[in-house]
Amino acid sequence: MSYLLHIDSSAMNTGSVSREVAETFLATWQKEHPEGRVVHRDLGAAPVPHLTADGIAARFADPAARTPAQAEAMELQEELLEELLGAGAYLFTVPMYNMSIPSTFKAWLDQIMIPGRTLGDPKTVPTAGRPAVVVASRGGAYGEGTPRAGWDHVVPFLTTALADALGMDVEFVVPELTMAHRNPAMAELRPAAEASRTRAHQEADLHAQKIAARLLV
Ligand SMILES: Cc1cc2nc3c(=O)[nH]c(=O)nc-3n(C[C@H](O)[C@H](O)[C@H](O)COP(=O)(O)O)c2cc1C
Repeated sequence: MSYLLHIDSSAMNTGSVSREVAETFLATWQKEHPEGRVVHRDLGAAPVPHLTADGIAARFADPAARTPAQAEAMELQEELLEELLGAGAYLFTVPMYNMSIPSTFKAWLDQIMIPGRTLGDPKTVPTAGRPAVVVASRGGAYGEGTPRAGWDHVVPFLTTALADALGMDVEFVVPELTMAHRNPAMAELRPAAEASRTRAHQEADLHAQKIAARLLV
């Protein structure tokens, strides 16, 4: 029986907005799908190593001819692949760090995006069509008309990586302006931040209902 793979990448634990919104998703998911199993990986607490030369070479080497270092590097990739491919749905929390995704999430992607295994024709790769929800929290706001429109390299990158390349059916939940409560210079944005956070929880709840219903038919 497949499970929901939940991967967090905020370095923060207490006070993390993306983790909080994920909790709303999980509460609804568990209510709708009480038998459903959730597998959790916390990249903030336990980052996976970066892909190394041994890890890349191991992908091309005859398994019997791998060096011990290549075999060890491949073992990690296989473990992460098994976890990814056993899942029927995904919940990723990916805050914005310096305009992009946390390096921990990129390190995980580099380990699991493997030509011929998870990459190929996006319509037929193993994760094709599987639902994924990404909670993409950010301290500022990057919509059309904002001073930093165009600086968001999280949603466009993850659309390419998760939807276009891995073929997942991806929905984004974007709590923005999360720094407004801590940054006095953003005080006037606090109502907008609050509204964004409320909307994010509502969207997480709706996505969980929709995905649980889809997986249960
Ligand atoms: C290292 C670091 C870099 C950040 N860079 C940005 C950034 O470029 N743009 C932005 O809007 N917020 C940035 N932030 C703020 C976070 O996106 C914001 O606090 C968000 O809520 C983090 O997710 P979390 O609450 O789940 O931990 C940064 C935060 C950290 C810790």
